[in-house]
Amino acid sequence: MFVPPTDLVPVRTADGSYTLDSATLGEHYHSLYGALTESRHVYIEQGLLATGKRKLDILEVGLGTGLNALLTWSESDRLGINVNYWALEPFPLPAGLHEHLHHTAVIGAPERQEGYTAMMNMRNGGAVELSALFHFHRERREVQHLDANEAFDLVYFDAFAPAVQPDMWTVDVFRRVYRAMRPEALVVTYCAKGDVRRAMIEAGLRAERVPGPPGKYRMLKAIRPR
Ligand SMILES: C[S@@+](CC[C@H](N)C(=O)[O-])C[C@H]1O[C@@H](n2cnc3c(N)ncnc32)[C@H](O)[C@@H]1O
Repeated sequence: MFVPPTDLVPVRTADGSYTLDSATLGEHYHSLYGALTESRHVYIEQGLLATGKRKLDILEVGLGTGLNALLTWSESDRLGINVNYWALEPFPLPAGLHEHLHHTAVIGAPERQEGYTAMMNMRNGGAVELSALFHFHRERREVQHLDANEAFDLVYFDAFAPAVQPDMWTVDVFRRVYRAMRPEALVVTYCAKGDVRRAMIEAGLRAERVPGPPGKYRMLKAIRPR
């Protein structure tokens, strides 16, 4: 049974952006080679932009510090992409901790601070329209209880590493993710492990390794075949 960490501290990563570190968990929320660089590469470039869609429903597994959500909002406004964003987060950060990560300053969008704070303060779930193009929904639910059916075009699978939280990377979880995806939808994750790829394939996904962000040779990208 996963016990959420209570010893989270902000740490600066190699590209100047911040993540959270837990000594008891032995894990960071992002890569120490660069939280922002990782998030942009894995979720924006290999995910959002790779779909080529102008209107999409995105599921994020593990909202965490909200960096992926913030970047997606920013890209959606910049490129005119219509996004309905659904984030799962059963273990919200302690109130106020997100303020120590400077995410909006780091991405060069201080004007998004109010909207970012609204996303992070919605700790028990809710919805907010952050712009005409970006609608954000949040649920305090574990992915193990995901029961959506053909609802998403793209999934950001951003769980803690398999060694830290193995129950996130099971065939059963990927079957739920598969069911939640529309045919030809994509799922992306920073993880490139063979066991994870095999679990995805057993769940029905077509999974491949693609180049990862700096410091990480590979990552996984999978499609739900038509
Ligand atoms: C690597 S962090 C996510 C980082 C985040 N995407 C960001 O942009 O900051 C993993 C997240 O998964 C969440 N998590 C843990 N167990 C979960 C579960 N059963 N279902 C969904 N999310 C879970 C954790 O609380 C944590 O916030």
